[in-house]
Order: sequence, then C-alpha cells, then structure tokens
Amino acid sequence: MPKPKIVILTGAGISAESGVATFRDPNGVWANFDLEEVATPQGFACNPAKVQDFYNMRRRQMGSVEPNAAHQALARLEQALPDEVLVVTQNIDDLHERAGSRRLIHMHGELGRALCLACGAGSPWMDDIAAQSKCPACEAMGRLRPDVVWFGEMPYRMEEVGDALTGCDLFAAIGTSGSVYPAAGFVEEARAAGALTIELNLKCAGWASRFDEQIEGPATQVVPAFVERILSGKG
Ligand code: APR
Repeated sequence: MPKPKIVILTGAGISAESGVATFRDPNGVWANFDLEEVATPQGFACNPAKVQDFYNMRRRQMGSVEPNAAHQALARLEQALPDEVLVVTQNIDDLHERAGSRRLIHMHGELGRALCLACGAGSPWMDDIAAQSKCPACEAMGRLRPDVVWFGEMPYRMEEVGDALTGCDLFAAIGTSGSVYPAAGFVEEARAAGALTIELNLKCAGWASRFDEQIEGPATQVVPAFVERILSGKG
C-alpha cells in the first residue's frame, strides 16, 4: 500500500458529540475515575475486577452510540482519495470503522477486543469480560483483559505511524488535548518532515501553537468543512 499523504490523528473530542465522554474536559472520564486504578498495569494487578468493570461499562456504552458527521466526513475523505489517507486514533471506540474508515490504526487498542494473558492472542470481544470468560484461542479461563493500551504500555503500530508521519504532506489532529505521548509528539515529527500541520478542536489552546493552523469549533461542524476544503483542492 502506498504511503499516505494525509495523516489524521483523532482523540476523544471527535466522539464527544456522539455521546462518548472525553477524558480531561470538566466531567470527563478522569474527573470521575482514578486513572492509576483503572488504566495502568499496576491498577489491574491490584484490583482486576474494578478494571474489568470500568471497561465492561465503557464497552456496553459503545453499543448505544453512533458515528457522527465528523467520523463520516473522514470516511468520505478516504473513499474520495483511496490510498492517500491514514487515520490514527487514540480512541478505543469503534466509531471510525462504523462510519466507514478502513485505513485506521487504533494506537491505544480497542474496547471491542480482548487480550489473553495466558497465550497472548487477541480476539474480538463485545461482551463483558468476566472471571468465567474463556480465551477463544487457548481456552484458558479468567485470563482475558481488555485489549487497550494502559499508561506505561507501548501504543500499537508506532513504526507504521512514524513512517507515515515522515512521508505525509498534511497532518491534522482532531479533538485531542495533546496531553499524552507519543501522540502528542506526532505534530513535530510531521512538521520536521515538511508537512502542513492543522489542529481542529472545540477550543484551540495549549498545544495549538505547535501547529501551522488552528480551526476552532465542534468536530461535527469543522471536520466536514475541512474535508470539503481538502477535496476542493484548497487543503
Ligand atoms: N469537537 C472537537 N473537539 C472537542 C469536542 C468537540 N465536540 N469536545 C471536546 N473536544 C476537545 C477538547 O477541547 C480536548 O482538547 O477534545 C479534547 C479531548 O481531550 P482529552 O480528554 O485529553 O482526550 P484525548 O486527547 O483523546 O486523550 C488522549 O489520554 O487518557 C488517555 O488513553 C486516553 O486516548 C486517551 C488519551
């Protein structure tokens, strides 16, 4: 597959208008849950049931939300420019793929997959993960964890993302606060390689100054307009 010319990084803000809470906005996930307890390997070792409950709840919520106009616009962009667009998401929901994005990297894993601690196999998993849950590959019981990347763990497919960033002409970050590395460093990698960098956010603050251009507004409004701009050749 040819290297993508356009790399789009997405964060929780793109799913906010679908009804998925962001992490660091007031009343976001980390205002209501202790990150150390539910999103670290140490938290899981200490209290696996608490961690499973947290992700079981989030997995159930995923069934009641739908992709919004921003996810759909990115899928449209990929369809219009086949082979040119890569979406790298920090989100563990499945709204990009449900909207139709196909060239997609879930760098922080997926709520809809489980990982077996006994054999290392990953498998699709839409139910709750419970003590009686059996790994479809090795049949071990009670050894499944959510296939999500916790703090202190290595995000997925970083080599592929690095390659894409050094070869792209346009890098856009949508709905992310840029608080978590390595994603927060992608803008510099793309910029160093000569790409135009654009941030789209409800409120451009903090890390926005690291981009060539900022577009402020709700994702469901600014992303479709941004996609139209690229498709009309003014990107
Ligand atoms: N449209 C556009 N942007 C929005 C909207 C919206 N409707 N609503 C909120 N935002 C923006 C906020 O302004 C904020 O900058 O989305 C961003 C969300 O930031 P975070 O909550 O920090 O989420 P994110 O950047 O995705 O977090 C990165 O942190 O906890 C971890 O693993 C988790 O993947 C996550 C990572």
